[in-house]
Amino acid sequence: MSTESGRLPAEGVRAMFDRIAPVYDLMNRVMTVGLDGRWRRATAEAVVRPGDRVLDACCGTGDLTVADARAGGHVTGLDFSERMLDRARRKAPELEWVQGDLLALPFEDGSFDAATVGFGVRNVEDLPAAVRELRRVLRPGGRLGVLEITRPAGVLRHFYGIWFDRIVPLLGRVLPGGAAYSYLPASVRRFPAPEDLSRVLEDAGFAEVRFRLFAGGIVALHVGEAA
Ligand SMILES: C[S@@+](CC[C@H](N)C(=O)[O-])C[C@H]1O[C@@H](n2cnc3c(N)ncnc32)[C@H](O)[C@@H]1O
Repeated sequence: MSTESGRLPAEGVRAMFDRIAPVYDLMNRVMTVGLDGRWRRATAEAVVRPGDRVLDACCGTGDLTVADARAGGHVTGLDFSERMLDRARRKAPELEWVQGDLLALPFEDGSFDAATVGFGVRNVEDLPAAVRELRRVLRPGGRLGVLEITRPAGVLRHFYGIWFDRIVPLLGRVLPGGAAYSYLPASVRRFPAPEDLSRVLEDAGFAEVRFRLFAGGIVALHVGEAA
């Protein structure tokens, strides 16, 4: 199903996340040695103000959506995988969950004060179009937070190569339904470096774009304001 570049078409990505759904939360905790909760909280705190209307796109099983709600947002979680959404709904039935595509969001222009995407934009077929779509549904001055895996430049580079290229696919093989994790390293490898992702955000109409790195540069949080 994967193409030569390791990129899956959208239908393949959706089917892959439907398959992964039962092991997704466990894999996150194991792969990040439990740090992912801290990164999600930092993302929510960077962009959500109490009372904000917030979109969490590519919400998956809903952990970042819940963090946005805890930061005081009235949150809508959106994802195109029904199985991931099932888990999110069970986790937080009080929140709003919508099945939909990040590339064609089912919302009017300017519907939200803030938006977050956690480990989601790496999977979309057209990254600039996805960021433009997020810009469209934010009001002017609305804030975007993008949390994504990146590749460290310093001493962690070698350890990271072993972890992502060897251990993560191995973990995927031993966990039921986890075989799709062999796709993860390829998707990280082709994703833009933090400076390049900043430019993608600026080109899509975001100002004041900045990023911070977590865990020695393994994960980046980009924040920008809809211009
Ligand atoms: C790696 S998971 C991240 C889930 C969650 N945001 C988190 O922080 O754990 C990526 C999610 O993006 C969703 N996704 C990928 N491409 C999408 C698209 N074009 N539209 C909507 N959801 C998409 C997948 O179904 C999957 O649930």
